[in-house]
Amino acid sequence: MDIAIVKPCPKISGTITVPGDKSMSHRAVMMAALASGTSVISGFLRAEDCLNTLKALAALGAKVEFHGHDIRITGGKWHAPDGALDMGNSGTGLRLMAGLLAGRPWTSELTGDESLCSRPMGRIKEPLEKMGARLALTGQKGCAPVRITGGKLKGIDYEMPVASAQVKSCVLLAALFAEGVTSVIEKAPTRDHTEQIFRRLGIPLTVAGERISVRGYGMNGPNLAPATLAIPGDFSSAAFWLVAACARPGNRITVRQVGLNPRRTGLLDVLRRMGAQIRVDADENAQALEPCGTITAAGSGLRGTSIGGAEIPNIIDELPLVAVLGAFAQGQTVISGARELRVKESDRIACMASNLRLLGVELEEKEDGLIINGGKKVRGGAALESFGDHRIAMAMAVAALDAEDKITIRNIACVATSYPEFWNHLRSIGADVGISHCD
Ligand code: S3P
Repeated sequence: MDIAIVKPCPKISGTITVPGDKSMSHRAVMMAALASGTSVISGFLRAEDCLNTLKALAALGAKVEFHGHDIRITGGKWHAPDGALDMGNSGTGLRLMAGLLAGRPWTSELTGDESLCSRPMGRIKEPLEKMGARLALTGQKGCAPVRITGGKLKGIDYEMPVASAQVKSCVLLAALFAEGVTSVIEKAPTRDHTEQIFRRLGIPLTVAGERISVRGYGMNGPNLAPATLAIPGDFSSAAFWLVAACARPGNRITVRQVGLNPRRTGLLDVLRRMGAQIRVDADENAQALEPCGTITAAGSGLRGTSIGGAEIPNIIDELPLVAVLGAFAQGQTVISGARELRVKESDRIACMASNLRLLGVELEEKEDGLIINGGKKVRGGAALESFGDHRIAMAMAVAALDAEDKITIRNIACVATSYPEFWNHLRSIGADVGISHCD
């Protein structure tokens, strides 16, 4: 097992260029694999989750070539895969791929690691079966492996029971292969990368209030031309550095080429509410799939805040970091309406509560969030678990920078699913990090 030992760091500063956006990387290569001809994608995130999606696309017939920093994908004709498609740790990879396979005239199987095979898949089975596919969830109750018997699909009206961009995207991708119009109705707006990439590739999509609609192209799917797509840096990766900077007066970090899709940047509002100094400068990059720019964060005394309601989907992956901010901030920080955190790569409410308690943080665990009474220096010396969850491992490394003594984080291999350069970037801002292997 790999462990990281992170020492407290009195002052951090520097400039970081974060790797490509994970959500967009999955979507860009999936869409490129549908297009007839060769698409060129820059900024693709070369981390395990997205590389598993590439492998799955190759198994379905796409030609994938690495060309310097770019990836070239020649798509068009898909065929039945030889065996199960292993999506590793990635809920996005599995759920979006299920949408793409639902209208195919063959049976496919999607599987993943232990964490992915314990996450709910009933949420994609329901709409895809309404459209006409058959899905068998052959793992533990309601979970992957997912066996999809694809077929002729029809458009549906689907009101989402959970605020999930993965479910929305799964349905919209399946809708491309359906007859008629499919509408997804989302009560709380979730990240809209799928909608953005559809528009960019010329797929008409209408958004009217809560209703997102697309007209299907029937079982052969859309006839897409290849494209040149530039993926911006991942805001969720930038978030670690923004929080690290804001934790303490005197810190200052600049993160460059970061995606600024407003459905992803809820953390900036929360940081400002907590008293942090944040500056955002937009870049001009006509090729970028989404707006991007430079964010500079400077440390200050933080105060607690409340996060809940419609704000949650825009900050969903940053909530472990918000819990860390809550520990640093004076007063109370309340996270509510975030039950979805219990079905991420780990049960992020329980895992953050357990780790923060080991650091001496006073908190209350709720079914849908956490109440954190912060402001005391976090205790050092603890050995924390990643619980196999990349974002927990990285959030705890950020917490360690301001602890009283060094902190060990166990089982850190998971960081490679989304941010392989994380530990080097942590060192580049001044932190003392040791990585070692123990059995
Ligand atoms: C993602 C959507 C979110 C997010 C995940 C990536 C996506 O999941 O947590 O990391 O790429 O669509 P849900 O939509 O299930 O909340």
